[in-house]
Amino acid sequence: MKRRDFLLGSTAAAGALGLSGFSLAANAPELVIQPARFALRDQMTDGMVSLSPDAPPPILYGKQGEVMRLPVRNTLPDYTAMHWHGLRIANQMDGVPYLTQMPMGEGEVFPYEFTPPDAGTYWYHPHCMTMDQMAHGLTGVMVIAEAEHPGFDSEQVINLRDFRLDEDNQFLPAYTQRGAARAGTFGNVQTANWLQAPVYDHAAGGLVRLRVVNTDTTRIYKLHLEGAEARIIAWDGHPVDIEVPMPSAQDPLLVGPGQRVDFAVTMPGGEGQTVTLMAKLPGQPLRAMAELRAIGPSSARDLRELRPLPANPVARPDLNKAEPHEFVFGWTPEGGEPNNGFCGSLGYNFWSINRTPWPGDAAEGTGPLATLEMGKSYVLRLRNESPNLHPIHLHGLVFVPINSNLRRLPPLLTDTMLLLRGEVVEIALVADNPGDWAFHCHVIEHQKTGLAGFIRVV
Ligand code: C2O
Ligand code: CU
Ligand code: CU
Repeated sequence: MKRRDFLLGSTAAAGALGLSGFSLAANAPELVIQPARFALRDQMTDGMVSLSPDAPPPILYGKQGEVMRLPVRNTLPDYTAMHWHGLRIANQMDGVPYLTQMPMGEGEVFPYEFTPPDAGTYWYHPHCMTMDQMAHGLTGVMVIAEAEHPGFDSEQVINLRDFRLDEDNQFLPAYTQRGAARAGTFGNVQTANWLQAPVYDHAAGGLVRLRVVNTDTTRIYKLHLEGAEARIIAWDGHPVDIEVPMPSAQDPLLVGPGQRVDFAVTMPGGEGQTVTLMAKLPGQPLRAMAELRAIGPSSARDLRELRPLPANPVARPDLNKAEPHEFVFGWTPEGGEPNNGFCGSLGYNFWSINRTPWPGDAAEGTGPLATLEMGKSYVLRLRNESPNLHPIHLHGLVFVPINSNLRRLPPLLTDTMLLLRGEVVEIALVADNPGDWAFHCHVIEHQKTGLAGFIRVV
């Protein structure tokens, strides 16, 4: 199929499925992928990619169960496609090049339209030219509000990510061969909402919902909060209905690329007092990523005033009937280079799933890693054969970890499982969303050098 034929085909299919296609989407404001400039440190950085010429990608707000129309226009000379990470939406809106849509060339618009079934903290990023466009800034947060107001006084989104800059604040190459073959290439400038240790004002004594999202291409953040009474209320979008310990400096929370954590925070009562999101980076003292500063008279609210967040409508797998599948993540003996068509390649393969590197986004005759039957329960055994950590992400479905050979994992719903060195984790899910769902490591250098594939639900 030619690129153009496929585009027409998918629009026709969207119409046949009762989606509104171009006509309604045309009424919604376009999200325009474009070049941007921004002072990431003290001076301008050129060559960024965003949805505005001089600001980070905006927080996109939606409401659980309500339609969102997000027409995306590409004004870059490179191809792209937009993916909505964690949302359980129709496959043809998932934004994966060649698998669910054709890459969008310069000047093209794709009329993304979907109804998020789940409330929570999600995010968006390109899935074509992924390394390049994400590294240059194109990662944004999506907030899907609960149908009922959960009772916070305010909220704060923190989008954590690194940039790789030289002394003149200009971009260094986003990846290195050495990094791609190991833990990935790390940025050297850590930001929260593209700023360094920003301070945000919130009412003293108020209840704040703090949504922290790791949209970095590589880094696993080790986080904790200082100065607050707080509780973890959601993980990877979904409400946490069990008691999970609060992280501390000694025992920080590991948040891998793609993962999210929501805290309920009680602001200090004294004006000017702060709550700090702290990160531990290798070989560095603890650093403040962002601060919340109390302002005004104290409203003296209490975490116990919060009702638990309502559960999202995620089907629970039946472990007695679940069929097992095994996936091994490791190096590849083959080398070679993936065929990603218009979507960019790092030029080599280092990684594999089940010892086969992903032949590429545009490779012909590429089959699914597994085919799951609609409505059935499955246990997927994820085996990390490598010494590196891998945040393994599955599109379109939500799963629950059931055991690990290394640690006790709380049974929290997620779409991204961080596998530790040598770890084997079993996850369980109900295959209840039909389509071809990308399944890959969210360290983008791993994804783009073989650690990718897809799972089919029919
Ligand atoms: Cu957040 Cu396939 O990606
Ligand atoms: Cu995703
Ligand atoms: Cu990986």
